[in-house]
Amino acid sequence: MSNFALLFCFAFSTLSSFTALKRNDEPIIGVLAQEVYSPRPQNASYIAASYVKFLESAGARVVPVMINKTLEEYKTLFNSINGILYPGGGVSILTSGYANTARIFYELAIEANSRGDYFPVWGTCLGFEELTYLTSGKMLLSHTNTSGVALPLVFTNRSRESRMFKGFPSELLDALASEPITENSHKWSLTLAIYNSNADLRKFYKVLTTSSDGKNEFVSTMEAYGFPIYGTQWHPEKNAFEWTKPYIPHSPLAVKVTFFMADFFVNEARKNFHKFEDEEVEKRALIYNYNPVYTGIKSAFEQIYYF
Ligand SMILES: *[C@@H]1O[C@H](CO)[C@@H](O)[C@H](O)[C@H]1NC(C)=O
Ligand SMILES: *[C@@H]1O[C@H](CO)[C@@H](O)[C@H](O)[C@H]1NC(C)=O
Ligand SMILES: *[C@@H]1O[C@H](CO)[C@@H](O)[C@H](O)[C@H]1NC(C)=O
Ligand SMILES: *[C@@H]1O[C@H](CO)[C@@H](O)[C@H](O)[C@H]1NC(C)=O
Repeated sequence: MSNFALLFCFAFSTLSSFTALKRNDEPIIGVLAQEVYSPRPQNASYIAASYVKFLESAGARVVPVMINKTLEEYKTLFNSINGILYPGGGVSILTSGYANTARIFYELAIEANSRGDYFPVWGTCLGFEELTYLTSGKMLLSHTNTSGVALPLVFTNRSRESRMFKGFPSELLDALASEPITENSHKWSLTLAIYNSNADLRKFYKVLTTSSDGKNEFVSTMEAYGFPIYGTQWHPEKNAFEWTKPYIPHSPLAVKVTFFMADFFVNEARKNFHKFEDEEVEKRALIYNYNPVYTGIKSAFEQIYYF
């Protein structure tokens, strides 16, 4: 009897330490910077603070990923962080510094994941569009009337088996399907017809939801089949953290969407075990070294980090 109890205890503690080893409870996620949209004499790039708050709200710390660095610097940073987020914005997905850095991290992520080093990538809005370009090698976007509108999601039959929505409570899935609580701020979209006609995208991404501007059905949420790569054409971070536009939904369920999306992605980053070389290097890299500026009076964002 006591032997059995001992055995049980031992098995239990082995299992729990195994579980602890399989999870990184101190995830650090990179957020990609991009060129400033209106010239600020002393600043060349920025990150909207809502992306930082989005990840922080679910238990991650953030490191800004600056544009225009060398490949060597990016490789070192890649091996220090546990995931990367490509934010929305207004730069070119083909030729900007943002596009160039996104390509480097995408290629490093594909390579790492292929040898079992789990490294998640998330694209929001422009980041989603960038992913469609990186995967297909083609600019496949079409104009849609979606530059400032909250929409519901139409779930595909594939969404039930998705990693992304698996942990969502059913009241939240019902709300997403029936209420306009996903904020869209884009002039370009990947229409479902073009997705269906492109073998590279079809093989790589599972479409989880579509949305419509009334005329065109476009892909609004996707996840890669074989890689932890995710994209939303809409903005999960805005519901909780941005207030400058009247069409940003702030209902309790809309705000819950922000949190469940963040929780999902941060949990993906907890599966990665990259580490900074030492604590000093880590401290110098964190976003806490920068102060966001209050810009809500004249921009689409309440607060912005300028670099
Ligand atoms: C990046 O490099 C380009 C081309 O050299 C330059 O025009 C731009 O100002 C640089 N941006 C940053 C943020 O360093
Ligand atoms: C674009 O969509 C808005 C609603 O979001 C609608 O009021 C407007 O008429 C649409 N414009 C065109 C050209 O379809
Ligand atoms: C799911 O939807 C796709 C595309 O509409 C369709 O081809 C497929 O047969 C559907 N699968 C099931 C199990 O309903
Ligand atoms: C960017 O602008 C802020 C003011 O918004 C300034 O304090 C900071 O020094 C600038 N950063 C760089 C790297 O030029």
